[in-house]
Amino acid sequence: MPTDKELVLKVIPMPGDSNANGDIFGGWVMAQVDLAGSVIPARIAKGRIATVAVNQFIFKQAVKIGDLLSFFAEVERIGTTSVTVKVEVYAQRMRQPEQTIKVTEANLTYVAIDMEGKPRPLPKA
Ligand SMILES: CC(C)(COP(=O)(O)OP(=O)(O)OC[C@H]1O[C@@H](n2cnc3c(N)ncnc32)[C@H](O)[C@@H]1OP(=O)(O)O)[C@@H](O)C(=O)NCCC(=O)NCCS
Repeated sequence: MPTDKELVLKVIPMPGDSNANGDIFGGWVMAQVDLAGSVIPARIAKGRIATVAVNQFIFKQAVKIGDLLSFFAEVERIGTTSVTVKVEVYAQRMRQPEQTIKVTEANLTYVAIDMEGKPRPLPKA
């Protein structure tokens, strides 16, 4: 697992998160990645943010019920109102916790918004 990226979320998918194959539904993984990806932008924006784009999303390996998922994030770009992050998801299988497998990687952009939902400049660091 990466040591140079921030661990922003850990979660274990349950049977209710599965698809017809018995693996984890991709939409559930996408929702977790959206939440995980928002952690650093929310900290930088110091207020409301909205996801404006999922620039890339790759399901490299299936996620299984009971996997321990670790979500790592890093900033790729800070703009005037937006923050773009890369998210990597690693799984430790329930019966093989010594093995770590990269299951997903994604790139998302979040925009700082005001109370009317309009873009606002990011605050100075
Ligand atoms: C987010 C939102 C407020 C942005 O409004 P907008 O009028 O499109 O904003 P702008 O064109 O001024 O762009 C704002 C920033 O977003 C970036 N952006 C806009 N569209 C983008 C896209 N498709 N991909 C990547 N970045 C994008 C711009 O580059 C800009 O960044 P910068 O200021 O750092 O240079 C508006 O699109 C919105 O409300 N979208 C819905 C958000 C939402 O509901 N998300 C949850 C999905 S269920």
